[in-house]
Amino acid sequence: MSAGPSRICVVTGGSKGIGAAVAADLSTAGHRVVLAARDPDALASAARALPGPSLTVPVDLTAPDAAETLFGRVEAEWGPAEVLVAAAGAGASARLTETGDELWEQQLALNLTAPFRCVRRALPSMLGARWGRIVVVTSVAAKVGAPYVAAYTAAKHGALGLVRAAAAEVAGTGVTVNAVCPGYVDTPMTDATVAAIVARTGRDEAQARAALARMQPIGRLIRPEEVAAVVRLLLEQEALNGQGLTVDGGGVQS
Ligand SMILES: NC(=O)c1ccc[n+]([C@@H]2O[C@H](COP(=O)([O-])OP(=O)(O)OC[C@H]3O[C@@H](n4cnc5c(N)ncnc54)[C@H](OP(=O)(O)O)[C@@H]3O)[C@@H](O)[C@H]2O)c1
Repeated sequence: MSAGPSRICVVTGGSKGIGAAVAADLSTAGHRVVLAARDPDALASAARALPGPSLTVPVDLTAPDAAETLFGRVEAEWGPAEVLVAAAGAGASARLTETGDELWEQQLALNLTAPFRCVRRALPSMLGARWGRIVVVTSVAAKVGAPYVAAYTAAKHGALGLVRAAAAEVAGTGVTVNAVCPGYVDTPMTDATVAAIVARTGRDEAQARAALARMQPIGRLIRPEEVAAVVRLLLEQEALNGQGLTVDGGGVQS
């Protein structure tokens, strides 16, 4: 990818955390980057930090017409998306027996249905061009179960299933579909997890952050740039298709 032409890259969740790091990496490599998320101010601020051309599309990806709004806008401004990195997402914690329908449905809508709709909307033009790259940011929760995150875990397992099925369907067409599966990454989402631990357990922030750092065998949080580097590898290598690359310092081996 880096040595090829400038590509049109859509990064959902591109305003913060992992998505912002992916957007910066792609922009630095000379690609045109579309950032999609809800908060227009955060989008504008992330776009200002990019060295190359960017487009911001404020959109709530859980809305049924969001993928059409996003990809329609990209096509109108620049042309069909050639790369999709679906990083928008969020977690929510609750005991299984206290997971209500609303929480369950919200988690599936954001972490599973939204990537599905983006992949479905992005694929036809990629197949027509006989080139395209899709990476969905899932989680180690796409591969293993953990307590108190049933809805998030089910959604992320589903997203990895979506990636595997899509990859099988497009194999040999010039399009690839993969996932990255990070452990705890140093982003605003993890800041929220730290705050939740502090509120629930009475530990202080440093202790809560240290506990999350210890979840990775390397004893620290993963840096967003490290996830972006793995996304870049998946975008560059046509031989990688249908994979879920775990980025957690060696905790989950698969
Ligand atoms: N941080 C971790 O430890 C970790 C670990 C494994 C996997 N992940 C996954 O990695 C992805 C990115 O996480 P992150 O840590 O970078 O999170 P983050 O820092 O909270 O950023 C999340 C991004 O998604 C956007 N977003 C959230 N809800 C949205 C919605 N309904 N519609 C459109 N955009 C929405 C946010 O912008 P707005 O709020 O403005 O919409 C923001 O740009 C998520 O899928 C997450 O599940 C994170």
